[in-house]
Amino acid sequence: MSSDNHSHLEQGAASDESIQQVHERLQHQKPEKPEGNPQYPLVLLGIMCAAIFFGSVYLAHYSSRFDPLIYNENQKPVKQAASGPVITPAMLGKRVYVANCMTCHQANGAGVAGVYPPLAGSEWVLEPQHEKHMIAIVLHGLNGPITVKGNTYNNAMTPFGGILRDDQIANVLTYIRSEWGNNASAITPEQVAALRAELGARGPWTVDQLNTLK
Ligand code: HEC
Repeated sequence: MSSDNHSHLEQGAASDESIQQVHERLQHQKPEKPEGNPQYPLVLLGIMCAAIFFGSVYLAHYSSRFDPLIYNENQKPVKQAASGPVITPAMLGKRVYVANCMTCHQANGAGVAGVYPPLAGSEWVLEPQHEKHMIAIVLHGLNGPITVKGNTYNNAMTPFGGILRDDQIANVLTYIRSEWGNNASAITPEQVAALRAELGARGPWTVDQLNTLK
């Protein structure tokens, strides 16, 4: 009985000792502190911040709002590049048309009978005496009756002078004057700028008012 007790005690002592040894060994294996330069993560963070900052500045500078026509930062600002697509004012104007005019005047420029007048074949778009009128309509809008290709419309067109730049208006007018079989000369941004300055801020035109505009 007593010898049994003794051996139990010894066993306990022995296992305590061995546990201590194991712990000691484990403690020795564990490195005291992480190896390497403790400032390394900070430096890495700094480099990443700098990279993100550089990336943002680079995108702000070169993305051109991701316009697919000018996404290429290396594209030379020449009109006739030896290779690659040539971007004409009418091509740019088509984009303005699709975004701003197409819902009413339609993709084929034919308008909607009785509601939206056609631009294809319209005397207001093609005839020289209406050139200023056409620009003025887009700048300030139009109210009341208007006759286009023999049909009378009595509706309202919203002004675009506040949302489109001179070059955008020139481009869209160049587009509608050269599309759908239309064949009239281009409108320049200078023409639009001059008329904008001449007319100042004003509300929508009526046809009677337009006819006083020479
Ligand atoms: C909300 C519909 C609507 C939009 C958008 C619109 N128009 Fe019009 N447009 C009209 C209506 C309606 C008239 C005729 C107004 C009237 O009856 O007094 C008109 C008249 C015209 C005229 C003179 C008449 C003709 O058919 O030739 C031109 C030119 C014209 N629009 C060009 C444009 C251009 C360019 C844009 C885009 C920048 C545009 N419009 C956007 C509805 C619209």
